[in-house]
Parts: sequence; C-alpha cells; structure tokens
Amino acid sequence: MKRVQLLDKVFELSIPEADIINAIKKISDEIDRDLRDKDPLLICVLNGSFMFASDLMKEMSFNCEISFVKLSSYSGTQTTGSVKQLIGLNEDIKGRHVVLLEDIVDTGITIVNVVEQLKKLEPEDVRVATMLFKPEAYIKDMKIDYVGLEIPNDFIVGYGLDYNGYGRNLRNIYTVVE
Ligand code: IMP
Ligand code: MG
Repeated sequence: MKRVQLLDKVFELSIPEADIINAIKKISDEIDRDLRDKDPLLICVLNGSFMFASDLMKEMSFNCEISFVKLSSYSGTQTTGSVKQLIGLNEDIKGRHVVLLEDIVDTGITIVNVVEQLKKLEPEDVRVATMLFKPEAYIKDMKIDYVGLEIPNDFIVGYGLDYNGYGRNLRNIYTVVE
C-alpha cells in the first residue's frame, strides 16, 4: 500500500517495515552492549510504543523484565491546565537500571516529564530508547540514549502510532499528505 486514508487525511508510505525492524535491531544491540550485566527493567510508555516494545523484546539476547505505564491527563484542583501523571507502575525501581521505551520523541515534553517522575523513585539510572526521533521539533536538552531513526518534522502514523486512534495496525510508517 503506497497510500492510506484515515478519517479526513491521506498518508503516503515513508518508512518501510524492513527499515523499522533494522532500526529496532540496532537499538537492541546497543542496549545489549550497555546493560546486559545490569538486569535492566524496560518500561514501555503506552499506547503508541506497544509494537516497538514487542519487537525490541524479541531481539533481546538476555532475559530482562518489561513493565507498562501510561500517562493520564487529569484536571487537578488547580485550573491551570492538565497534569500528566504516570500510572500503572507496580515495580519498585529503586536502584534499578531503567530503559524507557517510546514510540516517538517529538518536542520531548512527554519523555522528559516521564523521566522526571521516574527519577523521584530513585532508580540507579534512567535511559530513553525511542524508535523515532524528530530532531527539528525537539526543544529539550536531555540526551536521548538510543534512537532508531531520525525523521523530518511531519505527522506520521503506523507501527503503533495513530491519527485520532487509527493507523496503529499499519506495518509501515506513513506521512501525512498536506
Ligand atoms: P512530544 O511530547 O512532543 O515529544 O510528543 C510525544 C508524543 O506525541 C508521542 O509519544 C506520540 O504519542 C505523539 N506524537 C508525536 N509525534 C507524532 C506523530 O507524528 N504521529 C503520531 N503521534 C505523534
Ligand atoms: Mg508515545
């Protein structure tokens, strides 16, 4: 499929599945090299990262744990917008080597927020592995430890990523056609 329609938008093929799988293999080799003796805990940030996390886990050559978290938007008692709170973490991460798994880092606001919340739980260290990275959109200083592919600053879908809930099932990545 060269083009797909989702709701009101048309998307065209931009990254074939094979390139994504190679990028995930590269990340798994790097994590392997850095952390195989450190019993790392992988933490997948739902929803978009489920496919990346699954494929990455299958490439790991040593046994390691995985856990899943979500960011819930909730309106606090303050009226100054919503706060995104991390929910679903059952593990005690104190003293652990944590690797966060993200589908995509865009502005970096989400992942930096997650890292800050996790650091309060006193892990030994927190690293970030992202399947995709938009360097032109990134506004943070935090270094991203493991990057699968750098992509232009365009809206994409597929491989777990959605447009208003749709497109997550697509095997390739598609870019919106303006
Ligand atoms: P950030 O906080 O701006 O880095 O955005 C991170 C989140 O926005 C990701 O985890 C995605 O859920 C979503 N996102 C960013 N860019 C895209 C895109 O191109 N397609 C679909 N979702 C995206
Ligand atoms: Mg995400």
